[in-house]
Amino acid sequence: MRKIIIAGNWKMYKTIPEAINTVNSVKAGLHKVSDVEIVVCPPFTAIHTVAGLLEDSVVDLGAQDMHYETEGAFTGEVSPLMLKDIGCRYVILGHSERRAHFKESNDLVNKKAKGAVKFNLIPIVCVGETLAERESGRQLDVVRAQFAGTFKGFTAEDMEKVVIAYEPVWAIGTGKTATPDQAQEMHAFVRSLVQEMFGEETASGLRILYGGSVKPDNTAELINQLDVDGALVGGASLKAESFVQIVNAAVQAVVSKE
Ligand code: PGA
Repeated sequence: MRKIIIAGNWKMYKTIPEAINTVNSVKAGLHKVSDVEIVVCPPFTAIHTVAGLLEDSVVDLGAQDMHYETEGAFTGEVSPLMLKDIGCRYVILGHSERRAHFKESNDLVNKKAKGAVKFNLIPIVCVGETLAERESGRQLDVVRAQFAGTFKGFTAEDMEKVVIAYEPVWAIGTGKTATPDQAQEMHAFVRSLVQEMFGEETASGLRILYGGSVKPDNTAELINQLDVDGALVGGASLKAESFVQIVNAAVQAVVSKE
């Protein structure tokens, strides 16, 4: 049974006082959640503070991006070593906003994912098609190409340390969610790609999160899908109340999925 993950991606939101408020409210709102892994990914400036607040909690820490090198003359960048040092367990890589606004290629995401695995950070690697790509029926080809480029040179053992997030670009921040059937179709497809490249055992253990306008009221139906192993949540993770509701909905869904 793959353990469900609910990860909050705060993007470029929250000052340190705002981050403290949110984390404290999330901690206060969560009760026994042993069946679900919970992650928050604050902006870099709040990571250290949030790390301290999460020390005694069930919530894990993640970052939203990183450079692939350990150290060096890369002004403005943060390395996997630094993320490990500050207490991160996860790092989001290849988010569509980074691919679109910062021109991140599959090749770059590949280097970053390798860097993360080397440092025992769990990369949450994002793939997903744009609206135009879906409307022209090319979504499977697009995701196949992203997958092949991003995991080039990976071994099955590397893959066991990876989480994938399927995030259709047309569903991110738009209020438009993929239907449970659309999500399941793509998640099953991604799992079949893992199987082709890395074998059955790796494929059946790998967690694939869905992201794109996940909210408290659509969490359960998404997580109930066979190949959906959790959610990467943007907007709805910014408010502690809705993030906790999403976690609670996931806990309920796990019970009914078992
Ligand atoms: P959203 O963002 O939940 O606001 O659609 C998801 C994401 O970008 O990871």
